Amino acid sequence: MKHPFFPLAILAVALTACGQAPESTQTTEQAAPAEKPAATTADKIDKAAEATKEAAIAVKDDVVKATSDMIAKVKSDERVEKATEKAASMVDEAKVVAADMAVATGIVDDPMVSHAARAAAGIKKFARTLQGELKAAMSEGGAPHAIKVCNEKTAGIASDISAETGYNLGRVSLKNRNPDQAASGWNQTVLEEFEARLANGEPIDKLVFKTIVTQEDGSQEFRMMKAIPTGKVCLNCHGSEIKDEVTMKLDELYPEDNARGFKEGDIRGAFVVTKTL
Ligand code: HEC
Repeated sequence: MKHPFFPLAILAVALTACGQAPESTQTTEQAAPAEKPAATTADKIDKAAEATKEAAIAVKDDVVKATSDMIAKVKSDERVEKATEKAASMVDEAKVVAADMAVATGIVDDPMVSHAARAAAGIKKFARTLQGELKAAMSEGGAPHAIKVCNEKTAGIASDISAETGYNLGRVSLKNRNPDQAASGWNQTVLEEFEARLANGEPIDKLVFKTIVTQEDGSQEFRMMKAIPTGKVCLNCHGSEIKDEVTMKLDELYPEDNARGFKEGDIRGAFVVTKTL
């Protein structure tokens, strides 16, 4: 596009030639034929500057929009996650209340029902908390970092939820990582039964065991176990193709680790709940 002052410039040159200075010498200087290449360059620079500024504003708007969209999304994801968790624990609480009422009103003549509802709520809370910690640790620093979190936090989480619910919670496995979590005695028998039930076609999420036993001293103990399925994410640390950096860390912390070589859908272990009644 031509400089808007271009015709004026010609006029100015003509006027100067006639000895009559134009009102704006500025225009004359900029647009005089001798200065023309410089004026065009200046024009181009102006335009480039203008375009750059416009682009910057457009980009800035896009960035601001993308950022606020992202913040909104993260916020709503967090809210959805929190709401889902809240809803899940409310459902568990409702089940406990329903079970208690069923027993209290005599509809159900079995104290097992309310213990099982409480134990199931405790297991779900334990599982949700562990999964939340694992997810956060994996996205924060990958599997090697998450191993540390599993190693350091699991026992505390178990004892917190045990104290809160009044039921002792833990995890055991036939192929354990932590030496304290080797299944033995009745835990081992139940896990072996779970393996047989799974092999028989029973769905893994239905593998639950519960009983009330009278112990030698005459006291009664409530016992419950629930199978823990091996999911895809678990294979990072419990599968058969574990990364070298993960293997190194596991070897260092668990020299007697048996908890490798699992496949998706295998029984990784079980939650165990007990309570002396
Ligand atoms: C980042 C590595 C990592 C991932 C991923 C992981 N685990 Fe583990 N897992 C561990 C560590 C470390 C321990 C030992 C914790 C301890 O000392 O109590 C463990 C222990 C366990 C135990 C207790 C029994 C035992 O072997 O000591 C169970 C059950 C278990 N994991 C199940 C799972 C399941 C199910 C998943 C997938 C949802 C999973 N793990 C994912 C590292 C991992």
